[in-house]
Amino acid sequence: MVLQLSGRVGTEHHLSLPRILAQLLQERIDLAGGCGHGDLTLPVVYQVAPTGSAWTRQKNIFPEGILSHQEKSSLSGKWFGKWALITGASAGIGVAFAKELASGGTKLVLTARRKDRLEELARRLTATCKVSVEVFPADLADPSAPEKIFAFTKEKGIEIDLLINNAGFGQYGEFTAVEKQRLLDMVQVNCHAVVHLTRLYLPEMVARRRGDVLILASTASFQAVPYISTYAATKVFDLLFAEGLAEEMKPYGIRVCALCPGSTESEFHAVSGKEKFQRRVETAEKVAHTGLKALAAGKSYVISGLGNYLGAHGERLVPRRFVTRIAGKMFKPGNK
Ligand SMILES: NC(=O)c1ccc[n+]([C@@H]2O[C@H](COP(=O)([O-])OP(=O)(O)OC[C@H]3O[C@@H](n4cnc5c(N)ncnc54)[C@H](OP(=O)(O)O)[C@@H]3O)[C@@H](O)[C@H]2O)c1
Repeated sequence: MVLQLSGRVGTEHHLSLPRILAQLLQERIDLAGGCGHGDLTLPVVYQVAPTGSAWTRQKNIFPEGILSHQEKSSLSGKWFGKWALITGASAGIGVAFAKELASGGTKLVLTARRKDRLEELARRLTATCKVSVEVFPADLADPSAPEKIFAFTKEKGIEIDLLINNAGFGQYGEFTAVEKQRLLDMVQVNCHAVVHLTRLYLPEMVARRRGDVLILASTASFQAVPYISTYAATKVFDLLFAEGLAEEMKPYGIRVCALCPGSTESEFHAVSGKEKFQRRVETAEKVAHTGLKALAAGKSYVISGLGNYLGAHGERLVPRRFVTRIAGKMFKPGNK
C-alpha cells in the first residue's frame, strides 16, 4: 500500500504502523483529500518500505505546515477555473496562497525573482491539482517589472480575476545603518509595485464588473515601529491603500482587502536580518487562508490571529507616542 510516492526530499525514518496511525491523528492529516491534495497539504508521507516490514516517513518538500481539511474545504472552489496572479510566490505566505488556490481549482500565474523555486512549485501544483500554472520571474524592485508581468499575461490571453500583491520585505536596524538602496527597493517592492500592478489590472476588472485584489499589509500597519520604520510605513501605506480602494471599487462588485499578519513562519525574518520579531508565530497556511476568507467575505481588511487583532486595536486606547516608545524598546538592536 502506498499513500504517497512522488518526488520527496528529506530524511527518512522507519516507523511502526501504530506509531504512524498516532502520527496521522496528531498531525491532522486528511487522507481523503481530492485533487491529489495529499501531495501538497500533508507535512509527511508514508509508504511501505521495499521489504513491506516497515513504513517510511519522509518530510514534505513544503516545510510550512498544513491546513486542516475543514479549513481548506471552506474556501475550495471560490476562484475555481479563474486565474490568480500571486507576487512573492517563491516562499512563505505566497507559496501558501498558491497551494490553497490550486487545491480549489484556481489557475495561477506565479512571480518572484527565484525562477527555480517558482518552476518547482508550478510543476508540483500542475501535477497534483491539475491546474494550469504559469511562471514569470521578475524583480519588483525594477520599476518596469509590473508592466512586464502585465504584458506576459496579455500575451498569454490570461484574464486575472484575483490579484494577490504579496511580495514584500523588511530590513531591521537603525535607519542610518541600513543601506540606502535597500530602503528604496523596499518602498519600490512594498508600495510602488503594489500600486502599479493594481492600476494595471483593475481597469479590466472594472470593465468586467468582477475581480478581487488582496494586498499584504501587516500588524506593523497600525503603529510606527522604530528600527523597522521604513518597513512599517510601507505597510501603513498598503493598509490604507487597500481600504480606500475597497470602498471605491464596491460599486463595481470588486472586492479589495488588506491582509494584516503578525509574526508568521516564513523567510521574512531571516531576510530582514532579525530572526523573530515576536515569539508567537502563525503558519503561512493559516495566514493565507485568513486573507482569502476575508476577501471572499468582502472585508476591506483583516488581522490574522486574535492576539494580533486585540493588540492592534487595543493600542488605540493608549497615546501614540507611548505605543511608539514601547515598540522602540522591543525592537531596539540588542533586545531579544
Ligand atoms: N512573515 C511575517 O512575519 C509577515 C508579517 C506581516 C506581513 N508580512 C508580509 O507578507 C508578505 C509575504 O512575506 P513572507 O512572510 O511570505 O516572506 P518571505 O517568505 O520572505 O517571502 C517574500 C516573497 O516576496 C518575494 N520578493 C521579495 N523581494 C522581491 C523582489 N524584489 N521582487 C520580487 N519578489 C520579491 C520573495 O521572492 P524572491 O526572493 O524569490 O524574489 C518571496 O517570494 C510580505 O509583503 C510581508 O511584508 C509578513
